[in-house]
Amino acid sequence: MTSPSLSLRNVTKNFGQTEIIRGVDMDIAAGERHALIGPNGAGKTTLFNLISGRFPITSGEIRLDATRLDGLAPHRITRLGLSRSFQITSIFHRLSVYENIRCSLLWSRGYRYSFWHALGRQRALNEEADRLLEELNLVERHDLPAGLLSYAEQRALEIGMTIAGGASMILLDEPTAGMSHSETEYAVALIRRVTQGRTLVMVEHDMRVVFDLADTITVLVYGKVIASGPPAEIRSNRAVQEAYLGAIAA
Ligand SMILES: Nc1ncnc2c1ncn2[C@@H]1O[C@H](COP(=O)(O)OP(=O)(O)OP(=O)(O)O)[C@@H](O)[C@H]1O
Ligand SMILES: [Mg+2]
Repeated sequence: MTSPSLSLRNVTKNFGQTEIIRGVDMDIAAGERHALIGPNGAGKTTLFNLISGRFPITSGEIRLDATRLDGLAPHRITRLGLSRSFQITSIFHRLSVYENIRCSLLWSRGYRYSFWHALGRQRALNEEADRLLEELNLVERHDLPAGLLSYAEQRALEIGMTIAGGASMILLDEPTAGMSHSETEYAVALIRRVTQGRTLVMVEHDMRVVFDLADTITVLVYGKVIASGPPAEIRSNRAVQEAYLGAIAA
C-alpha cells in the first residue's frame, strides 16, 4: 500500500457571516502521523468535514496527492482511499461486531466487485473481516451486538470500520476521548498498529497521546494555523504556549 499526502492551501469556510476556517495551509506528508490540536471550537472537526467532503469549502484548495478533493462528494473521496471517524461513536449497536465490520467492507468495496463473482466476493469479504477482527483484538467479541462492547472496544471497532476497505489516509477525530488511562494506552497501541504504512491525521486533546504518536503537530486557534512542526518544536514554540499549551508545559 502506498500512503498518500494531503495538502490544504488557503482554505476558508464561512457559516453564514462567520468565518470559521480562516486561510488554512496544511501539509501532511505521505506516511506520517499528524496531530491537529487546538482549543475547543478552533475548527478542527470543521476542517475534517471539509477534507472529507461533508461540507463544501468557501475557498482554497484541498489535494490528496495530485487529486483535487474539494468539490467531490464524500463517497468519491472515500473511494480515493480517505476515510474518517467521527467525534461521536457511530457503530451499529444492534448488529454484531462481525456484521459491523462486514458492512463497512461491503460499503467501501461493493462497487468494485462484479456480480458474477458474488460467491468469491463473499469469501474474500469474510476473510478480510476475520483478519480485521484479529487486528483489532476483537475475535472473542465476534457475535456480540456492538452496543454491548465496552466503550474502548466500541472506539476500536470504529477505527476498524474506518480502515476497512483499505483506506490509505485516515482521519480520526478524538479517538481517545472519554477513555481511562489504561483504555487510552490500548487505543494508542491499536492506532499505532493499524496506521502502519498509512497516513494519519488525528484530532486529539490528550497531550500524552499527541506527543507519543505524532510525527508532526499542527496547532489551530480560531480557524488559523499558528504553528506546525515536529513535537519538540511545537512544545517550545512561544506563540503556541501562550495561546494553548499551558497544558503541555504542565
Ligand atoms: N454546521 C455548522 N454550522 C454553523 N456553525 C458551525 C457548524 N459546525 C461548526 N460550527 C462552528 O464552528 C466552530 C468550530 O467548531 P468545530 O466543531 O470545528 O470545533 P473543534 O475544534 O472541533 O472543537 P472541539 O475541540 O470542541 O471538538 C464553532 O464555533 C462551531 O459552533
Ligand atoms: Mg471537534
